[in-house]
Amino acid sequence: MTGSTWTASGGELAGSYGRHSGTLRGALRQALIARALRTHLPVAPRRVLDVGGGGAQQALALARAGHHVTVLDPDPRMLQQAQTRLSAEPEHVHNRVVLVAGTGEQATGLVGGGFDAACCHGVIMYASDPRPLLTALVEAVRPGGVISVATKQPALAMRPGLRGQWERALALMDATTEVGNLGATTYAHSVDELSEVLSDLGAAVSAWYGVRIFTDHLGDAPVPAREEFDRIVEVEWQAGCRDPYRRIARMIHLIAHRAALV
Ligand SMILES: C[S@@+](CC[C@H](N)C(=O)[O-])C[C@H]1O[C@@H](n2cnc3c(N)ncnc32)[C@H](O)[C@@H]1O
Repeated sequence: MTGSTWTASGGELAGSYGRHSGTLRGALRQALIARALRTHLPVAPRRVLDVGGGGAQQALALARAGHHVTVLDPDPRMLQQAQTRLSAEPEHVHNRVVLVAGTGEQATGLVGGGFDAACCHGVIMYASDPRPLLTALVEAVRPGGVISVATKQPALAMRPGLRGQWERALALMDATTEVGNLGATTYAHSVDELSEVLSDLGAAVSAWYGVRIFTDHLGDAPVPAREEFDRIVEVEWQAGCRDPYRRIARMIHLIAHRAALV
């Protein structure tokens, strides 16, 4: 596998990520990414590839909306979580999702191309060099297709700073790498850096969002009642759409389009 600290870490992360998904921070990230996808994906039914789709949370939301989704992921435990989640769905939703074992870098050989959209959320942060995965995403979509990438941005001092962990905040002030919440080394990339690589590959970023601005320091706080959760999502969404707030978010979510054929 090309430089992913997720698979190199040998198997503990799937369980930790599953637990994280049940927290406010985990649920919020999924809700914000899903909202941006509803805003930017073409009307269903379309063919969507989810590289590193893990437990299929986004795949499920997309399938419920009528899309046909291929989840490509190298971690058998994540694919098992996906299978369990999908099994609880009505057959017509379940049948719209295909699970494929493999890395994003192998996408062309494993799942081919011509997708209307390719997603890659929370995966590039485990790769020291984002280019191989970004290349695979651009190659997976048809001309004009959508590329959706969510990853950490280099504002790593924010979380410890808001928690009053002053030594750690100082140490991370200019950092672009850290050992993340799940215990693996992660890498942060700026919007400008990713936009430049995508541009080199023939895709232009058309929108970007900050993900988790006011809530990232809240540790494993549980998901609150629906009404309160919806209020938090709205505040985070509004801040995530605009400067200056989105520039200090934990994660960034980029939407790009592969250049259309002329
Ligand atoms: C933090 S989880 C994110 C899962 C899902 N995309 C989400 O946002 O909930 C990271 C996922 O990336 C997968 N992964 C790690 N390296 C990968 C690679 N090189 N290609 C594709 N997936 C990879 C892991 O197996 C894991 O399922």
